[in-house]
Amino acid sequence: MNVSRLREDFAVLSDVIYLDSAATSLTPEPVLKSVEDYYRHFRANVGRGVYRQAQLADQRYRLAHNKLAEFVAASGGTTVFTRNATESINLVAQGLSWKRGDRVVTTLLEHHSNLLPWMKLKSQGVELEIIKPDREGRIDTAEFERAINDDVRLVATTHVSNVLGTVLPVREISDLCRENGAMYLLDAAQSAPHLPLKVDILGCDFLCFSGHKMLGPTGTGVLWMKDESPVQPLLSGGGMVDQVFEESFSIKKGYEGFEAGTPDVGGGIGLGAAADYLQKVGLAEVHNHEMMLTQRLLMGLQEIEGLEIYGPADLRDRSGVVSFNIRGLLPHEVALMLDQAKSIAVRSGHHCCMPLMRHLGLDHGTVRASVYLYNTEEEIDLLLQTLESIARLA
Ligand SMILES: Cc1ncc(COP(=O)(O)O)c(C=O)c1O
Repeated sequence: MNVSRLREDFAVLSDVIYLDSAATSLTPEPVLKSVEDYYRHFRANVGRGVYRQAQLADQRYRLAHNKLAEFVAASGGTTVFTRNATESINLVAQGLSWKRGDRVVTTLLEHHSNLLPWMKLKSQGVELEIIKPDREGRIDTAEFERAINDDVRLVATTHVSNVLGTVLPVREISDLCRENGAMYLLDAAQSAPHLPLKVDILGCDFLCFSGHKMLGPTGTGVLWMKDESPVQPLLSGGGMVDQVFEESFSIKKGYEGFEAGTPDVGGGIGLGAAADYLQKVGLAEVHNHEMMLTQRLLMGLQEIEGLEIYGPADLRDRSGVVSFNIRGLLPHEVALMLDQAKSIAVRSGHHCCMPLMRHLGLDHGTVRASVYLYNTEEEIDLLLQTLESIARLA
């Protein structure tokens, strides 16, 4: 992987040390170009017109869905475009029909987006169990073995924690789901952009991720469903129907049935280009590069006096998301200092995981640095040097 070559595709990198890709990623030139091409040369609505321009838009938008299905090695199922991972998860939570006494199992590592949609089901009589991680942010497989039994209707977990970087034992969880007749929703917002995923190997029924975290345009996300039949669309209206009568209507099969109204056509086409870009670079290479940077970062952070690192100590249990604090300073103060001193962009605060922060006793949250394919060892070293100076002054 030629990092200096691919950095040329991200113009903004000349102005910033961007270590906040877990929040949203940057956009490479080929993705910008694909969106621009749509708006300049063949902008039209999809699924509606018969003229050539509309046919071209339709074809490219459909192709983008196929590219995203390929991206997660899905040979079947339905790949729906959404606005983000949050919408993908809500689509499943609200689209399934629930009955009083149904049980859902999730974890305290979840982003609010994979917690609140399940909490909301409590008003329909659904019982929710939230498995808690240990101090390092890990959950033993035994905890899932205890919680997942044949009363459980659905299990919803993240693949990778967006705060602690913890990687969950997805295959073990999906095996337990299968043995107990439960559905499995996997939130891959922090994994799909960073490592090669194959839905068959993961063994999930629903896979949710954000397009904007994988070099795609903002306002794009994906929901893959192994079987769409138990899920009702979130919205009804134009574009999603086969037949409409005065009393009833029939819904199209496939992604169109779940994408009522005019979709973000340019965004979807851009997301297809992002999937192409990542596959051309190679997800395995992206992952190796990130793990090399993460190891360097963790080793350097351990040397800084007054700095506490959170998350699993073992590199094999984590990804390129690293949370820490400097004693005597608030996370937002550290993030501001990094920006002011060296234009280093990191995230600070609760990272949309307030219950987890409370569980870990981190009232003000953490500072979070997250790496991606365009980051370099020099950038990590600059982050470490700057943090060292900040910690010395604190
Ligand atoms: C693990 C995880 N799940 C869900 C989300 C929500 O993603 P989005 O804001 O794209 O809906 C995020 C965003 O940070 C995340 O990290």
